[in-house]
Amino acid sequence: MLLIKHDKSFHNLYVLIVLLLLMKLAPGFISGVEGAAFGCIERERQALLKFKEDLIDDFVLLSTWGSEEEKRDCCKWRGVGCNNRTGRVTHLDLSGLNLSQTIDWLQLPNRLPHLHELLLSSCGLSIIGSPSLSLVNASKSLAIVDFSGNQLTSSIFYWLANFGNSLVDLDLSHNHLQGSIPDAFTNMTSLRILDLSSNQLQGDLSSFGQMCSLNKMYISENNLSGELSQLFGCVESSLEILQLDRNQLHGSLPDITRFTSMRELNLSGNQLNESLPEQFSQRSELVLLYLNDNQLTGSLPDVTMLSSLRELVIANNRLDGNVSESIGSLSQLQKLDVGWNSLQGVMSEAHFSNLSKLTVLDLTHNSLTLKFESNWAPTFQLDDISLSSCNLGPPFPQWLRNQNNFVQLDMSNTGISDAIPNWFWNLSRSNLKLLDLSHNKMSGFLPDFSSKYSNLRSIDLSFNQFEGPLPLFSSDTTSTLFLSNNKFSGPASFRCESGSGILRVLDLSNNLLTGWIPDCVGDLDVLNLASNNFSGKIPSSIGSMLKLQTLSLHDNSFAGELPLSLRNCSSLVFLDLSSNKLRGEIPGWIGESMPSLKVLSLHSNGFSGSIPPNLCHLSDILILDLSVNNISGIIPKCLNNLTSMVQRTDRSDTYKSLCWSNPYKRLYTALGSYVEYQNEIRVRLKGREYDYRSTLGLLRIINFARNKLVGEIPEEITGLLLLVALNLSGNNLTGEIPRKIGQLKQLESLDLSGNQLSGLIPITMADLNFLAFLNLSYNHLSGRIPLSTQLQGFNASQFTGNLALCGLPLLQKCPGDETNQSPPANDDNRGKEVVADEFMKWFCTAMGIGFSVFFWGVSGALLLKRSWRHAYFRFLDESWDWLYVMVAVRKARLQRAFQRLHEHVLA
Ligand SMILES: *[C@@H]1O[C@H](CO)[C@@H](O)[C@H](O)[C@H]1NC(C)=O
Ligand SMILES: *[C@@H]1O[C@H](CO)[C@@H](O)[C@H](O)[C@H]1NC(C)=O
Ligand SMILES: *[C@@H]1O[C@H](CO)[C@@H](O)[C@H](O)[C@H]1NC(C)=O
Ligand SMILES: *[C@@H]1O[C@H](CO)[C@@H](O)[C@H](O)[C@H]1NC(C)=O
Ligand SMILES: *[C@@H]1O[C@H](CO)[C@@H](O)[C@H](O)[C@H]1NC(C)=O
Ligand SMILES: *[C@@H]1O[C@H](CO)[C@@H](O)[C@H](O)[C@H]1NC(C)=O
Ligand SMILES: *[C@@H]1O[C@H](CO)[C@@H](O)[C@H](O)[C@H]1NC(C)=O
Ligand SMILES: *[C@@H]1O[C@H](CO)[C@@H](O)[C@H](O)[C@H]1NC(C)=O
Repeated sequence: MLLIKHDKSFHNLYVLIVLLLLMKLAPGFISGVEGAAFGCIERERQALLKFKEDLIDDFVLLSTWGSEEEKRDCCKWRGVGCNNRTGRVTHLDLSGLNLSQTIDWLQLPNRLPHLHELLLSSCGLSIIGSPSLSLVNASKSLAIVDFSGNQLTSSIFYWLANFGNSLVDLDLSHNHLQGSIPDAFTNMTSLRILDLSSNQLQGDLSSFGQMCSLNKMYISENNLSGELSQLFGCVESSLEILQLDRNQLHGSLPDITRFTSMRELNLSGNQLNESLPEQFSQRSELVLLYLNDNQLTGSLPDVTMLSSLRELVIANNRLDGNVSESIGSLSQLQKLDVGWNSLQGVMSEAHFSNLSKLTVLDLTHNSLTLKFESNWAPTFQLDDISLSSCNLGPPFPQWLRNQNNFVQLDMSNTGISDAIPNWFWNLSRSNLKLLDLSHNKMSGFLPDFSSKYSNLRSIDLSFNQFEGPLPLFSSDTTSTLFLSNNKFSGPASFRCESGSGILRVLDLSNNLLTGWIPDCVGDLDVLNLASNNFSGKIPSSIGSMLKLQTLSLHDNSFAGELPLSLRNCSSLVFLDLSSNKLRGEIPGWIGESMPSLKVLSLHSNGFSGSIPPNLCHLSDILILDLSVNNISGIIPKCLNNLTSMVQRTDRSDTYKSLCWSNPYKRLYTALGSYVEYQNEIRVRLKGREYDYRSTLGLLRIINFARNKLVGEIPEEITGLLLLVALNLSGNNLTGEIPRKIGQLKQLESLDLSGNQLSGLIPITMADLNFLAFLNLSYNHLSGRIPLSTQLQGFNASQFTGNLALCGLPLLQKCPGDETNQSPPANDDNRGKEVVADEFMKWFCTAMGIGFSVFFWGVSGALLLKRSWRHAYFRFLDESWDWLYVMVAVRKARLQRAFQRLHEHVLA
């Protein structure tokens, strides 16, 4: 038609001839021309109407589609696009229209042979019927297909094979594709963009190597295995973007510079487990390289060839060795993240020489030392400085002086023992959101935070030597505040507008503070004021914290009765009021108002009265510690209503609600979240005191020691099958030890000393295989100490002061025993120690080789090998201290591993 407009008559004639020719050869084209005048072609209109008939269009989204006269031009229908010259339907876009039905859409390209683009994403599509459909008249022009976000299964591949040579852009992401990648792809030679991410595809990459036009390939979040080198083929020169994150690829990282056009490569969250290449063979255009969350070993390669790199992320692998100085040559680099490896050595100016565009520097959890000349002024301005566990001290790093923009500064555990210089506080920090200087030896007084840092969300200055009054914080901007383990003194005051605070976590424990926190701090999740000089009554304003989950006030001088308002804190999970001067009766409402309570510790106070039976409603309770008070009366029989001590509940939940993780810190999710706040409790167990944190969720403890309880030990207590420790010592209990005590198979510690218990030691006590501590001294027990591997292993003093006990380990022989048996316990113990030693050595080795191997290795072995299993428990008893040192170093990684290991073994 454009040609007809041409004015030269010669051309008009020419056009006429062409038209006549066309009319003869291709009548469809002419009808197309006719159609274009009035809109679409009738045949295609009918095909679309047929298509609509099958749809369930609840929301009348296709109201523009119809057979009425005024709706005649189907090219004007919603989602339909035509070639404006031929009138042929070339585009159909019904994305996001909840069509939700299985319909005849597979036939659509048969009826619309010029269809070029078919977009049906998020339409609720699935396939029922013949998937191997081969279309007779299939559109040979279908190039762009987007079926993402439906419920398609792999049978869609058979259908797609119809368009093998025409498809250019195929998006099948977020469907239910399963099984292996079909060979059909090898034939899709024109494909330029392929998106199969978020499915459950398996198999390896060999189908893709010969897709010589492939430019962008997204197969994130599937279950592909195999190695990256399988891709080497003609795709090497065409591929620009390759996203294979969150699959199961293994092996090494090949020389990726062979992909000559590659700009983005994402292999994070795979199983790559060999070393990186030492260097790369040719200069590369690579801009983004993500290799985090694998098990790569060896050292960081020479990256000189990757001179276009903007983001280099290799965090959470097992790299060791020094950091190559070649990194300093990456002049385009903006993000360098090599945290959570085992890199060593010194990084100095040379490593940063050309990094003038760097904004994110994450070196956390390595063994790196950063050493610069004191007058070094970096050429970059960082946003995110994450250097936790690097060695930066002892002086405060001077190079921070010219960093003015950072949003996040994590310098925890970096060996700084210095006062924070004034220039640090004087710089304008209005962008700062996260400040973590914890676990150093920083000293000095702190400035007023509330006015300077208007965006500061998370502050962690714990485990330092700061002194003086608490700095002023604003609870309206700050959400988490950790100031524990310093030398702050004076009243606990900070600034807040009434009621509007966003403060969630406040940890002021282990300081020298007095007074009380301002009433207006708002709805805290965690309030920890333990080990300070707080005194007076617990203010009733505590009752306004309706979301409070953790309240820890132990080791202060709080006096008086518990405020009634505390019953409003119905979300409490952890309540530790131990070592204060509280008195009065233990309120029964604790049992009814706090249904989620897992830890209740009231020890070392002046509580009196009897144990309210309402406490038996605490069906989630793990630790119930009422020891060292003046509680009288009997032990309630209903204790077997404490469900969590009777049967296992959802353990992940148990763990979760005792911890709190910081949303402002980057998480390496493969290892579970980075646990920021954990409740900690000191329990007296096995005759010693232990601080429990991560493994708290595993404990089941009842401690009523050193009160004035009378009556018998209720038989019901033997129903608490998961009980790990029971301490009823130092009361006035009478009667016999419950006969079925041997049912408490998990019991590791049992202390019934200093009562008036009489009768025999039940023979079932020999069944307590995990028992590591037993004290039955100073009762009125009599008869033979039952024989077992465990009981004879205890010190004789644990049985002394009884009426008439006999048999080993006591020297007192039982009537009828003649010869002087040498105690077998000795040999047995030596055997155990050897095993324990072996275990320990092996355990430490395992620590070095990384998480998953460690975890499955250890727990597998423990399941298989009984002697190691026992050794493991002995090892647990003996090495808490050592563990906490390790934990401080490897925090979450180890804790999670350990947690899961322990649970696995207990299960
Ligand atoms: C026809 O479509 C092409 C591209 O799709 C556009 O450039 C052109 O302006 C359209 N012509 C008319 C007459 O609409
Ligand atoms: C889609 O439609 C189905 C039934 O027609 C309905 O149950 C579903 O909620 C809809 N989904 C959305 C996202 O609209
Ligand atoms: C294929 O095209 C022919 C003519 O172009 C037509 O007669 C036939 O019905 C079409 N087949 C299908 C399955 O649409
Ligand atoms: C690829 O195409 C060729 C020829 O077009 C055909 O013979 C072969 O079966 C196809 N392979 C697959 C896996 O579809
Ligand atoms: C992934 O593949 C492995 C074996 O290759 C298999 O054991 C596992 O079940 C698969 N996972 C899913 C979610 O398909
Ligand atoms: C790489 O993959 C990870 C994990 O799926 C994702 O978090 C990250 O944003 C991806 N990076 C890029 C640059 O696509
Ligand atoms: C203990 O549980 C039983 C039933 O499970 C119930 O009848 C009883 O009232 C409960 N006792 C207490 C004190 O919670
Ligand atoms: C234990 O009870 C007896 C009487 O039953 C009493 O004489 C004794 O003083 C009580 N001992 C303690 C420590 O309360």
